[in-house]
Amino acid sequence: MAASSSPPAALAAALDKLLDGQPRKELQARAQRMSEGFRARKPSSETIRDETDALAYALTRLPATYAATASVLRRLCEEVPEFSPASLLDAGCGLASASFAALEIWPDIANVELFDRSPQFLALAGRLTQASPHAALERARVVAADLRAPPRGGAADLVVASYALTEIDDDALPGVVDALWTRAGRALALIEPGTPRDYARLMTLRQRLIGAGARIALPCPHDRPCPLTAPDWCHFATRLARSRDHKLLKGADAPFEDEKFSYIVALRDPEPARRARIIAPPRLGKWGVELRLCASQGIEETTIAKRDKPSFKNIRKSAWGDAFNLGPESEP
Ligand SMILES: C[S@@+](CC[C@H](N)C(=O)[O-])C[C@H]1O[C@@H](n2cnc3c(N)ncnc32)[C@H](O)[C@@H]1O
Repeated sequence: MAASSSPPAALAAALDKLLDGQPRKELQARAQRMSEGFRARKPSSETIRDETDALAYALTRLPATYAATASVLRRLCEEVPEFSPASLLDAGCGLASASFAALEIWPDIANVELFDRSPQFLALAGRLTQASPHAALERARVVAADLRAPPRGGAADLVVASYALTEIDDDALPGVVDALWTRAGRALALIEPGTPRDYARLMTLRQRLIGAGARIALPCPHDRPCPLTAPDWCHFATRLARSRDHKLLKGADAPFEDEKFSYIVALRDPEPARRARIIAPPRLGKWGVELRLCASQGIEETTIAKRDKPSFKNIRKSAWGDAFNLGPESEP
């Protein structure tokens, strides 16, 4: 499982300040209604109706969307280490969790634009970004706009849409992604809930982006159609710690939760470096570690034997979602 990321201290502190004096019982009721709404696939416009709803989202969903997005952007940073975006567009930004995640990874981002159609989210996002230690977030351009008619503007090095396309109808989706790709100077990251439906929609968008000249840098090691067939679907997971309020609002005892997500990252680079990826939790068996990989030739099952000490030593630390990397010691 991908390493967990908690929202950065500054975001957590800003949230704490907003939550000060808020009756937890009311937030708990809102969180429950919101979660029923999301489960019934109602859009945020129906579930987030005022600032209290937005605060309930901040406590119960933001930590998970932050962790998933941070894990995707960290992988982009690993695969394309020379990528150092100066500008960021956060589309369907909600409470700006993707922007906070991007700034933690690339603190040199100088220009940030966020847009969403929800006035409730935008108001709170404005307050959270104001409290950010990152000057670029503090002076971010926060715009009210619809993904189906996104704001025009110059290219941003990195465009991110996290958990936003899931709320767009099938027929509007291609146009939305075309517009986001147009704004992407180098990279477009789409992060969605890790469900078969959202994965299938991402695969359609993946083909569309390839047709538009994009190279899919992550998680796929090739641009051919996804080799997985139903009931399989490509998804990953990240484990995140739950705060006291998070547990209270969810009525849950477990100190952590696992967030499943699917994603693609499209690049404008003609030949991005790509590696096989571990697409299921590694299983430690008697003889070694068993891995399911998506490789350039398709899906591969492989076992790295314990007796192959250098490879085993490297791979046993690997997790679901990591690149397949046997390490320098095992190279010829
Ligand atoms: C589940 S929230 C995700 C928010 C945030 N990106 C995150 O990762 O936490 C979905 C977001 O998409 C926004 N959204 C949905 N449909 C939209 C549209 N047609 N135009 C603009 N924003 C939209 C919602 O207002 C909401 O902020």
